[in-house]
Amino acid sequence: MDQFIMKGGTPLRGEVVIGGAKNAALGIIAGALLTDDDVIIENLPDVRDVNVMLEALKEIGARVDRTDRHTVTINASDVSAVSIDDEFIRKIRASYYFIGALLGKYHRACVPLPGGCAIGSRPIDQHIKGFRALGTEVQIRNGCVQAEAKNGLTAAHIYLDVVSVGATINIMLAASLAEGRTIIENVAKEPHIVDVANFLNSMGANIKGAGTDTIRIQGVKRLHGTDYPVIPDQIEAGTFMCAAAATRGDILIKNVIPKHLESISAKLLEMGNTIYEYDEAVRVIGSQHQRATDVKTLPYPGFPTDMQPQISVTLALASGTSVVTESIFENRFKYVDELARMGSSIKVEGNVSVIDGVSGFTGASVNALDLRAGAALVIAGLSAEGITVVNEIGFIQRGYEHFEQKLQKLGAQIELVSNDREAQKFRLKVS
Ligand code: UD1
Repeated sequence: MDQFIMKGGTPLRGEVVIGGAKNAALGIIAGALLTDDDVIIENLPDVRDVNVMLEALKEIGARVDRTDRHTVTINASDVSAVSIDDEFIRKIRASYYFIGALLGKYHRACVPLPGGCAIGSRPIDQHIKGFRALGTEVQIRNGCVQAEAKNGLTAAHIYLDVVSVGATINIMLAASLAEGRTIIENVAKEPHIVDVANFLNSMGANIKGAGTDTIRIQGVKRLHGTDYPVIPDQIEAGTFMCAAAATRGDILIKNVIPKHLESISAKLLEMGNTIYEYDEAVRVIGSQHQRATDVKTLPYPGFPTDMQPQISVTLALASGTSVVTESIFENRFKYVDELARMGSSIKVEGNVSVIDGVSGFTGASVNALDLRAGAALVIAGLSAEGITVVNEIGFIQRGYEHFEQKLQKLGAQIELVSNDREAQKFRLKVS
């Protein structure tokens, strides 16, 4: 029953160093399957999703050596199975990247179909459409995606009907080793798409246009080993930016690519906060008089859906009425009921929330519900008067490395507790 318990009300101040991007790392780890050589991945975040992905690799026979906490060497020359165990898929959706990677290398894959999830139904029809276009027979049987390209993968011209991060990466993985020139149109442009493409190119792939609407991939015969550092995590950085604003603090956020944070910076500036950008850092100074603004989530370079709960918490403490439109996932406002327990005033109608800013939150016991909602509730707790307990923090640990320790260094009174006794001790300490 791990929980985060915190006493809010202290403005967060100081420096925080951002880790490697989880969502880039997940695609890159699967990409390591595409060669028999050693692949060294650096700046790997030590978070649950990444560790589950590495476990799944081991399970099919890959060698995985953790050189240090943030570096791993993967060797897939002895992979003996093209089936991923159900257990891993249940823990982490991104194991669908194994379909693209196994297809690319072995022309066969059998991966359980990931189920729905807390933020909405998440179909993979665009992934499947891409694989089929590359000459793969795909069937869903007994809950599994069974894919086989009997005559190998052949290049294709693919138009994605929906801008999908997962489908873009998955098709890139498979097409890197396909015969001929694949063109994928209407692709996602998120920073991690570019990072996975750069990673594959560092292995000898020939991928052009990542970061634009069209990706062109000239298939190669084989890929070789590489030593590749993962880019900094846009969403972890954005989360600390919102934490600075919501607690009226002052945080220097280091090891970031400020360009990736522009949509988040723009909204925090509109709210009246101060932001300084440096080469590899941003500093956010939270204003005492923040104003409401409207936010709409969109594919990159638009405002990220993965930042919607965190900015909503920040807006809920700004004066005036904000409108937040969630255009990527239909069910991403469930945290609103939890936040209401802390005194927020938010109405949800379909994919739109109307936030009436309040002058402060009060502490409560709340449930994390999903990864980003959980992080947002921690920000809310740190801004609230009194004690907040965030339950089900396993969700948060999927994507934030030592979240509580990074927050403690910024002056937050927060602890990870595992039982009532520890929680009681914390209450006594801060009372
Ligand atoms: C990735 C991120 C996730 C982020 C999301 C949007 C990873 C591991 N996860 O998820 O954190 O919130 O991008 O930035 O990188 N869709 C279809 N058919 C498909 C695929 C997607 O209809 O085949 C729809 C989805 O339901 C959703 C939208 O397209 O409405 C975007 O989804 P997508 O970009 O694929 O999200 P994920 O890759 O699952």
